[in-house]
Formats: sequence, structure tokens, C-alpha cells
Amino acid sequence: MSSRYQAVKGTRDILPPESQHWTIVEQTARNLFRQYGYQEIRTPVFESRDLFVRSVGETTEVITKQMYSFQDQGGKWLALRPEGTVPVLRAFIQQGLYNRPQPYRYFYIGPMFRRERPQKGRYRQFHQIGVEVLAESSPLADAEVIAMAAEFLGSLGIRFTRLEINSIGCLRCRPAYITALKQYFGNHRDALCEDCINRLEVNPLRILDCKNPDCRDLFPNAPSIDAFLCSNCHDHFAQVRNFLHHLAVEFNFNPRLVRGLDYYMRTTFEFLVGESSAQNAVLGGGRYDGLLKELGGPDWPGIGFAIGMERLMELVPREPFHEESYEVMVIPLEPSAILDALTWTQHLRQNQFSAWVNTNSVSLRSALRLANKCRVPFVVILGVDEITSGKWTLRDMRSGEQIRFEPDSLMEHLLRIRQTN
Ligand code: HAM
Repeated sequence: MSSRYQAVKGTRDILPPESQHWTIVEQTARNLFRQYGYQEIRTPVFESRDLFVRSVGETTEVITKQMYSFQDQGGKWLALRPEGTVPVLRAFIQQGLYNRPQPYRYFYIGPMFRRERPQKGRYRQFHQIGVEVLAESSPLADAEVIAMAAEFLGSLGIRFTRLEINSIGCLRCRPAYITALKQYFGNHRDALCEDCINRLEVNPLRILDCKNPDCRDLFPNAPSIDAFLCSNCHDHFAQVRNFLHHLAVEFNFNPRLVRGLDYYMRTTFEFLVGESSAQNAVLGGGRYDGLLKELGGPDWPGIGFAIGMERLMELVPREPFHEESYEVMVIPLEPSAILDALTWTQHLRQNQFSAWVNTNSVSLRSALRLANKCRVPFVVILGVDEITSGKWTLRDMRSGEQIRFEPDSLMEHLLRIRQTN
């Protein structure tokens, strides 16, 4: 059968059993983040367009090329959120969360939208698990946030990622670096791609994020940020690295690591897989002191990260997810058995079994074939014999063994099997 409607390009359906793996990964994140004192926050998927334009950066590609923005029927400009940090800060300010006691540690899980060219690991609707920490300026916060990210990836059994960190300085020291970059790339203007020629004028730092090989060839000799950091930024970064050493988190210092969003300052970091390129970043984050104030909130610092779920799920080994399932299919073969089957199946669920009544199959044979196909381990059969004798048949689908029990004993038997497994 060919489908008349297709999912929109760059979006995809997450089907079972993959959806179950997603749930387990999300639950792992929830559990770990709670241990670190984070609480969940859920914000709308669309916001005022303006909210993103200024904070993410008017000249960033996320805003100029990728953001889904539209005017609604009332003429208001809205945008599907391209990322989660700014909405969390908006909610923090609007809902007065700063009046509550510390810590201000939040996490979120949900879809984001960017109109990028779809390819493996790059979608137009993708999902992020993100965290934001507000009002913590110590380099310890940077190190702890990064260490928690590393712990999360490790707890999922993901090994081959490398952590790259950098400091992109602050409003005091970055301008001199940007001037130096402008001068350097200006001298190599002919070798730059068209986008970078434009970036040279509007946002020279962004050139370091370019994927064009000709532009990248110029990077090794480009000025390095570490020579430009002011003493505060320098000290902060040195302490972040010390704490990371102390927490046994391995990292590479990458002085060319800039991020695609404008609100960062000081510490930036990414967890990469494969050859170095932004497309392979499974997780990205950094410090964004000043952003909360710019959005109208208190002058408090902030730091966080977001993980791309689609990229993450490519890396998660499936073995740890082998979950013992106790599925039971109940097959009433007579119309008079249906009500008993229904109530008893409810009973199974109250005992935490996953169970369902099969009223679709036309014969016992076809019901068993279906149970086999679905890998249901136990089947309970209610035919004429079972109803008249009051003893129902339990079939172990793996061994083919069948035993008859009264309904109460049958339940006890299943509970015993679960306990001993
Ligand atoms: P970002 O680097 O733009 O940062 O995105 C974070 C992660 O989302 C990326 O590392 C990647 O795994 C995933 N991602 C981004 N775009 C796509 C896409 N089109 N398809 C699939 N995955 C994608 C942020 O969004 C910041 N808000 C992170 C942050 C939080 N910084 C501080 N707090």
C-alpha cells in the first residue's frame, strides 16, 4: 500500500521499539539530572519571533537561514523554537522563578526546529535533552556541568566521544580577538567562501565554524583566542580545566571551538564523534553570562548544554536495554469467556504485567501464530474446556509447555516466574 501522505522532509517518525529506547534514554537523563538537583521545565514549542532573533544572534545562521518563523492569523510574528535555552530563560523571568530559593537548575526534553539541509544526524525537527544552570558563576559550575554531561554519555555505554573545550572570552577581551581574526581572514579574502566573506563583515568569529574545506585550510594559522583572554577569563578557564582534571574528565583544548549561537561567553564545549566537524557534535554547550539580563531578567550568569537525541541514539549500544518483558496474551476462544478474560487481564496489569486480550484471531492456531510473531512469552487460553472445568491453560511460548490452573493460582504462578527470573 502506498501512503498518500508523507512526513515532511527533515522530520521522521520514531517507531516502536525505537521509541522505547528513547524513553529509556530520557528516563536515564531524568534520573541523573535529579541527582544533580535539576528540575524539569517544559516550555511551548513556539514563542515570539523576536525572543530568538536578538538573543541567538541576528547574524547567526540559525536565525537568518534556519528558523521557522511565520505570521499567525492575528498578524503576530512567531517562531518554532530553534533551541531551548532562550525559552527557559524567558520562562524564568516571566514566571519570577528567581524569587524562589536556589539552585536554579533546570532540564528539558523536547523537539526543536531548524530548516537545515536534511542529512544523516541533521533534521528539521530534532529533539534535545538540555540543561540550564543560572546564577552560578564559579568555574566549578562549568566543570560540574561538563562532568555531568560526560557521566550521562558514559552511563548510556557511549564510548567513542571526545570532549573539546575552549574559552571564547568576554565582552572585554573578545573584541581584540575579533579584530585580529578580521585582519587575518581579510588578508585571505580570496580564499574564503561567499558566506565567510559576508561573515567577515558581520560576524568574523563565525568563520571558524565554517565547513568549507578552503576556509578550514586557513584555520591552523589563524590567531588563537588564548593569546587574547583577559586575566579574569584566563583564570576562569584555568580553573575549569583544573576541576575537570580533578573530576577525571578527559578533554582536548580546542582554541578554534566557537559555537553557532551568539550568546556564549567564556567556556564553550562540545562532545564530538568521528572526524571533527560540527555535524558530529552530539552535545554542545557553554556559558552565557549576560543573556539573562539582556532578556530583561536579573544580571545573573548562566551555563548549560543540549544533546541532540537523534545523534545520541545512533551511538547508544542496544545491549543494556534488554528489558525482561512479562507480556501475556489472553485468548478467549468463546464469546462467553470475553468478560472473564477482560477482568483477569486488568488484574494482570495491576500486578505490573503487560497484558492484552486477543479477540481478533479467528482460531487458536492463528492466535498462537500471532503470539509467536510478537514474541509474547505467555499465553492464557480460555476455550470451552477451560470455562467448564474452571481451569485455564497457560502456555509457555518458549518451551511449548501447557499447564492448567485455576485463575488465582495462575496469577500466583506467573508472579512466581517473574520473581525467580
Ligand atoms: P546547539 O549546538 O545548537 O546548541 O545544539 C545542541 C545539539 O543539538 C547539537 O550538538 C546537536 O547534537 C543537536 N542538533 C542541533 N541541530 C540539529 C539538527 N538540525 N538535527 C539534529 N540534531 C541537531 C544549542 O542548541 C544550545 N541551546 C545548547 C545550550 C544549552 N547551550 C547552553 N545551554
